[in-house]
Amino acid sequence: MKIGLLGHGVVGSGVRKIIDDAGTPYTKDLQITKILVKDEWEMTDERMTMNADDILDDPDIDIVAECMGGIEPARTFLLKALKNGKHIVTSNKKMLAVSAAELFEEAGKQGKTIRYEASCGGGIPWMSSLCRTRRIDTVTSFRGIFNGTTNYILSRMADEKKSFAQMLKEAQELGYAERDPSDDIDGYDVRYKVMLSCMRAFGTIISAEDIPVCGIRHISEEDLAWADANGYVCKLIGSAEDRDDCISACVMPVFVKKTDDFANIRLNFNAIESRSGTLGSCIYVGQGAGSLPTAHAVVQDLIDIQTGQDGACDTLMRTHTVNSDHKGVYYIRTAKMTVFNEVIGRRVSETAFLTDTVSLNEISALIRTADDDSLFIAEVDE
Ligand SMILES: NC(=O)c1ccc[n+]([C@@H]2O[C@H](COP(=O)([O-])OP(=O)(O)OC[C@H]3O[C@@H](n4cnc5c(N)ncnc54)[C@H](OP(=O)(O)O)[C@@H]3O)[C@@H](O)[C@H]2O)c1
Repeated sequence: MKIGLLGHGVVGSGVRKIIDDAGTPYTKDLQITKILVKDEWEMTDERMTMNADDILDDPDIDIVAECMGGIEPARTFLLKALKNGKHIVTSNKKMLAVSAAELFEEAGKQGKTIRYEASCGGGIPWMSSLCRTRRIDTVTSFRGIFNGTTNYILSRMADEKKSFAQMLKEAQELGYAERDPSDDIDGYDVRYKVMLSCMRAFGTIISAEDIPVCGIRHISEEDLAWADANGYVCKLIGSAEDRDDCISACVMPVFVKKTDDFANIRLNFNAIESRSGTLGSCIYVGQGAGSLPTAHAVVQDLIDIQTGQDGACDTLMRTHTVNSDHKGVYYIRTAKMTVFNEVIGRRVSETAFLTDTVSLNEISALIRTADDDSLFIAEVDE
């Protein structure tokens, strides 16, 4: 199989390395014939080009693997690749989460495959496992630690009893967090991953923007001290449940019990749990990012296409609305306590309280009214 690679950064260079090293009978049968780069100084190999059409219009290329990131021009390139009769593989969660409907429609017309294992959970075989599960089972819900950057920050804050800002700086120095970490710490990265996981788990396309999201930007040492003293560890959790007529989904910091399987998933590791009829609970743990772990997932997709094992993973797509009427007990720290009077179950400090069981919709409305820039909210596992 001849492959055109779009992007030669952290993930793309890992894909090239694994395939060029041809370490197994499967990778020996893959061949990268062209690589798209952006700048002259990157043209270090005769396969490199700065013109995407050299790849997209090449009739000998069977699969286009996109590892560029960003919405455009990745989306336009992949649409063109499909129209030109090529299968596509992508690690780009953001682009796929906003363009899934049109890309899958085009893939359907052309009879081509879209694979996106690396877009969610990095090297963890999460997407392919969902596909296998669905061959004989119905996935009813999933929840997971989908973001290594925030998990690293939360683990280190708990270990060192240091501030969010200090631990974010440490994560940036170690290359775990980007210079602009907003997508990670505000939960948007997890939101894209939840959207894509709903596609694979439930066979439905929902709008990522409809998934309620709360990040960890405002978490303080005081919040973690309360969690620790009361038997909890804080994790940023993305979750979704298929309720037949709608999908209930959200991204939210959760105080999980120290005995919970997720409590010991530390540093930059990811863990995702699916629940289904016959398999029950199944948890996948591993490296959620990094050059070779993520490239491993991209190459697995390429091999599946090459060996005809791409399955009917994403057929029977439905569309659903997101219902954010998730009920739970919430920990809220705010300087505007009085706004929340009607939902305060128990005060835990001058500025923090626990709600009784309330709906996320109700809490969201009060949060909008409070308009408190430093408010922190976490769901508390019961
Ligand atoms: N890194 C991870 O661990 C990881 C894990 C899972 C998923 N992903 C996803 O994988 C994708 C790639 O991530 P990455 O970490 O490999 O990013 P990266 O290191 O920034 O690599 C992307 C490369 O593509 C190049 N590029 C961008 N637009 C281009 C264009 N129009 N033409 C040619 N080259 C172009 C970039 O060049 P410039 O730098 O010059 O713009 C860069 O060299 C993203 O969607 C990311 O979310 C990454």
